[in-house]
Amino acid sequence: ACGGGTGGGATGGGGDSITMGFSQVGAESGWRTANTKSVQDSAKNANITLKFSDAQQKQENQIKAIRSYIQQKVDIIAFSPVVESGWDTVLKEAKDAKIPVILTDRAVDSKDTSLYKTFLGSDFVEEGKKAGQWLVEEYKSSTDPVKIVELQGTTGSAPANDRKAGFQDVIKAETKFEIIASQTGDFTRAKGKEVMEAFLKSNPDIDVLYAHNDDMGLGAIEAIEGAGKVPGKDIKIITVDAVKDGMQALADGKINFIVECSPLLGPQLMDLAKKVLKGEQVPARVVTEETTFNQEQAKQALSSRQY
Ligand code: AHR
Repeated sequence: ACGGGTGGGATGGGGDSITMGFSQVGAESGWRTANTKSVQDSAKNANITLKFSDAQQKQENQIKAIRSYIQQKVDIIAFSPVVESGWDTVLKEAKDAKIPVILTDRAVDSKDTSLYKTFLGSDFVEEGKKAGQWLVEEYKSSTDPVKIVELQGTTGSAPANDRKAGFQDVIKAETKFEIIASQTGDFTRAKGKEVMEAFLKSNPDIDVLYAHNDDMGLGAIEAIEGAGKVPGKDIKIITVDAVKDGMQALADGKINFIVECSPLLGPQLMDLAKKVLKGEQVPARVVTEETTFNQEQAKQALSSRQY
């Protein structure tokens, strides 16, 4: 169905081979690496030819990649938008070229929902709420103030916006909770460490760290240990993702609670792509199923963790 692709194939399933252009956010976290692997492996298994590009966390690179997929006349475009805003023009170009688009992992804020076929990914607001609910439960018998610092994900990204909003929505009911500092750590370990070092310098008595992903939490653990404090005890830590390194730190008692965000979106993405191209109806929103882990649950789950 697409000119100029490599391989593709005359195997299984019947019908034309499909070419998908996929624009990935980057390689900023363990989650992202697992997500990329899931997309690449599933494309192979589904006999879909994948054109893959890594935008290094830059929207302009994603827009370039999408334009190049349009030029190459791929059958379908999927992408994980680094930020929520600013996609209307390029999505309109894809629509005009009659190339369907699937949003994976992250949402866009376009008012015109006809610019994409479906959105597959987590409910990030719900993830933020789960983080807040754990905190409320953990401190239910205390009336003392609880000082929280927050490491936000990439500024303007759906997971940063929504995880912040969901968390706040739950903790605002109790005045003892106070977010004393909140800054982006770009979803990376290095930035998580750097920002946590600054937080520790300006705030001597932090009770809780809420990090929007495991990687920033892991970087922050290094900063906390560097400051002579005990992560998981002196400062309680909540993160999101549940990648292996995060789960190990949780099992080791350095993190207190992780809200799962599953990166294994590949198989569902390929299914949706096939359905869309066959002209079948697909749901406008496909929400990923996920759970939460405390320290005991992490010990149990660690050995069977795939990523
Ligand atoms: O969009 C999902 C988020 O992006 C993950 O939680 C984070 O680790 C990644 O970089």
